[in-house]
Amino acid sequence: MSPDATSTRPAIGASIPRVDGPLKVSGRATYSSDHHFPGLLYAVPVGATIARGEIAAIDDSAAAAMPGVRKVYTRANIGTFYKPGKSGMIDESRPPFEDDTVHYYGQYVALVVADTFEQATAAARAVKVDYRNVAPPDVRLALSPEENQTTDSERGHVDAALASAPVTVDQTYTTPPETHNPIELHASVAVWDGKAFTLYETTQSIMNHRAVMAQMLGVPKENVRIVTEFLGSGFGGKLWPWPHALLAAAAARDLGKPVKLVVTRQMMFHNVGHRTNTQQRVRLGANHDGKLVALRQDFIYRTSRIDDSKEDCGEVTGFLYSTPNLKVTSARARRDIAPNTAMRGPGAVPGLFAIESAMDELALALKIDPVELRLRNEPAIDESLGIPFSSRHMKECLTRGAEHFGWSRRNPATGSMRQDGVVLGWGMAACAWMAQRLDAEVSLLLNADGSVRVASGTQDIGTGTYTMLAQMVAYDLGVPIERIQVVIGDSALPPGPLSGGSMVTGSLVPAVAQAAADAVQQLLDTAAGHGPFVGAKAEQLAFTEGRVHLRSGTPADGVPFADILKQARLAHVEGKGKSRNTFGDKEAKKFSMHSYGAHFVEVTWDPAIARLRVSRVVTAIDAGRILNPLTGRNQIEGAIAMGVGMALFEDTRYEPLHGKAINSNLADYIMTTHADMPDVDVLFLDYPDTKLNALGARGIGEIGLAGVAPAIANAVHHATGVRVRELPVKIEDLLASHVV
Ligand code: MOS
Repeated sequence: MSPDATSTRPAIGASIPRVDGPLKVSGRATYSSDHHFPGLLYAVPVGATIARGEIAAIDDSAAAAMPGVRKVYTRANIGTFYKPGKSGMIDESRPPFEDDTVHYYGQYVALVVADTFEQATAAARAVKVDYRNVAPPDVRLALSPEENQTTDSERGHVDAALASAPVTVDQTYTTPPETHNPIELHASVAVWDGKAFTLYETTQSIMNHRAVMAQMLGVPKENVRIVTEFLGSGFGGKLWPWPHALLAAAAARDLGKPVKLVVTRQMMFHNVGHRTNTQQRVRLGANHDGKLVALRQDFIYRTSRIDDSKEDCGEVTGFLYSTPNLKVTSARARRDIAPNTAMRGPGAVPGLFAIESAMDELALALKIDPVELRLRNEPAIDESLGIPFSSRHMKECLTRGAEHFGWSRRNPATGSMRQDGVVLGWGMAACAWMAQRLDAEVSLLLNADGSVRVASGTQDIGTGTYTMLAQMVAYDLGVPIERIQVVIGDSALPPGPLSGGSMVTGSLVPAVAQAAADAVQQLLDTAAGHGPFVGAKAEQLAFTEGRVHLRSGTPADGVPFADILKQARLAHVEGKGKSRNTFGDKEAKKFSMHSYGAHFVEVTWDPAIARLRVSRVVTAIDAGRILNPLTGRNQIEGAIAMGVGMALFEDTRYEPLHGKAINSNLADYIMTTHADMPDVDVLFLDYPDTKLNALGARGIGEIGLAGVAPAIANAVHHATGVRVRELPVKIEDLLASHVV
């Protein structure tokens, strides 16, 4: 079959394997730390071994004399880092080595640069740091509001409604600190050519990274180029720059040599953010018929002493259910722990653990099925903003998910369902996540060799952005996927969106469509009046599946676009497209735009040996039109794996003497493995949300994680009778079970 005969219009909605898959599985995909240059040096930071105090002295004499060591940097000789100002987003805004104060365990206090990684590592261990004014750190996870509580959302009179509600729930839920553990470590390879930087970085936002690095390194933006061709994921931990990137760049500039700095797994637990712990008191009030009359959520999140990254647990609370009376308040508590940052589904994910656990407790108190309870509280509009939803099919997520799971066979009595000698627990939870667009620019070349190049200064966190872009172009132009080259991951390209908030795909759709239309227009202008189209005006021509033809004729009578360009002796025509963000867009603000879902979970509980497993998950997701069910399902499956980890395993522990994360490795920080994976079934509702973009595609990176942990905890309660309100669920908790 010739490429032109391939019908490419179905590119949207087709299960197309990742276009970058072969590069990845053959090891040819170049990740940031894979970049190597002649004369490359290796940098290894020295981390503080206290969490609170001051540096009294640093003795680097032994380290400096060790083999291969080029230089040991401290505050005395690193040079100037400027403050980030308003250049962009950064979670640790204090420049590295800013002063002698230590704010958290592991804070970088020195940097060794040597000829090899081993030499740098050995010398880093030989740097002797003396501290003074050392104080015991406060790393307590129990939280009380230490700063003024603020009201984030309010309607009606929640306290009065709670006081008079016939049925109430009042419980406190906590989630632990979770550490992002993408398999690709954070890394920087910095190259300075005497005037400009080229920085190979692990970043979810090359454009933001460029802006912040330029400001903090004190060079114009034009003199910084960020390259991130592939990411071994990031989960939010790679959204904003971290201090190691500045250190690598400063050393490269000072030494005039390329410098590579790879953050170790242990450092990943201290120096590149984490999802902070939260404590949430949830009060629900309902009538006997299950109608919510009041919802109050008061949450506290922990931050570092030096920055404030808000974990907005109330993110989805205001519009999830219908209730006339609602209040969400937040407060932060400062501790001697490093700055936290966004982690997949920030805010909503811990928030939904509390809300959806409380809803399960309410269902039990009311003796109403938990699915039915949610159906009875489905809002007609977004009651927090008083505006309609762009496209919300929560009810169908609930009913289709329930049907697919077999929910009607559920016996609500605790520990009542058994199979193959174990107790079955069935639980469920609903979820939501925002849908928004960011600014995006795209360049699209129709090349004289018949290929198409699409380029944007965005990056692929691993979710399939290369594939999405190829599909969008295939859809807009009708050109086969194989002839489309996707170029991303370079800040020299037209500025593209960051890979966060599940916004990349939705942001790129309008920009790609506009760039494609622009390129086609230029092609038709070029073709008009020449060759086979002598006497024809551009408006009499059409472009169909890669061919230019008379509107009055058929594509088969036309010519391939490559021929037009060759005849005109043009290497290419370039189309340009732009998307506008939704945040300041009046039209977009008329609608409440979110994705929705419902998770149905089965756990098995073997009381004889206290063994709990998540055995089966059915997830129904309403995320607009699904551009690629294969990569889409993959996103949800990965999210469910992460949800199992959140429910049962993940928990960063800080020891109280030094404030160190003691489980700072992949053996002790437990994450979901293949052996822990349940049988997963993903249903996509596939209703296009054309308020967000013409294809109706919302993001699916985060929605799949939201709600998984409470669905599991609810299933655990059904199996064991133990209500776990403090994640993760521990075997110790379940030993209280009366189910035998
Ligand atoms: Mo995601 S936490 O928005 O990278």
